[in-house]
Amino acid sequence: MQVHLKIKRFNPEQDAQPQWRAYTVTVEPTDRVLDALHAVKWYQDGSLTFRRSCAHGICGSDAMLINGRNRLACKVLIRDFQQPIVIEPMRGFSVLKDLVVDMTGFFEKYKAVKPYLITGDQPPPTERLQSPAQRERYEDTTKCILCGACTTSCPSFWANSAYVGPAAIVQAHRFLFDSRDEGRAERLATLNAASGVWRCRTIFNCTEACPRGIQVTKAIGEVKQLLLRSSIHRQRPSASA
Ligand code: SF4
Ligand code: F3S
Ligand code: FES
Repeated sequence: MQVHLKIKRFNPEQDAQPQWRAYTVTVEPTDRVLDALHAVKWYQDGSLTFRRSCAHGICGSDAMLINGRNRLACKVLIRDFQQPIVIEPMRGFSVLKDLVVDMTGFFEKYKAVKPYLITGDQPPPTERLQSPAQRERYEDTTKCILCGACTTSCPSFWANSAYVGPAAIVQAHRFLFDSRDEGRAERLATLNAASGVWRCRTIFNCTEACPRGIQVTKAIGEVKQLLLRSSIHRQRPSASA
């Protein structure tokens, strides 16, 4: 079938502002949007720039706005979209070129929540044991692939880019509820700051956008509840403003 694409193009080194370009490619209805982008890049316009790596929904590098919603281009089928398929970079990040956005700040926030196991004792000779129920407690948030679709669909993030954002909170959740972790106080202090979890207004765009089906808003709510029960929040009641 023939598919019509409308792609927002922008090269900050050459263009004063973004421009829409139209392309028509021949693909199968069961091809992914990523296949259509490849058809443009490989056979029509090699200057079209976008990120992708695994092409199987694992690496998280090809999140983009497709017909107005954040999606992984490699996970959505051509047949499921009305034409023209309108493709734009994710909102809220500066554009480096075409569909490639600058995710430097995104990964700084990821690092700020310390997304690794923190322990104070000597490593045991074997693995640190955990029951199936303890493992299940944070199963959902282990699925995050750091694509950025949640954070860049969040109106609170659009309004204030200092907001740590749902992706970083999901990553914090994965360790906050891990029975083996001892870094809870450090992470909660970061999330209780003015740019932390209280910026979330429970809008749910993040949950709708997540290509991994993570219950993002639920995870954020659990982190808020943890903070409310902690001494950190009681020490800093003004931080919820
Ligand atoms: Fe992407 Fe979902 Fe992780 Fe957000 S929570 S970065 S949408 S995988
Ligand atoms: Fe934003 Fe999701 Fe909260 S869309 S406001 S982080 S529920
Ligand atoms: Fe890896 Fe799409 S290319 S998630």
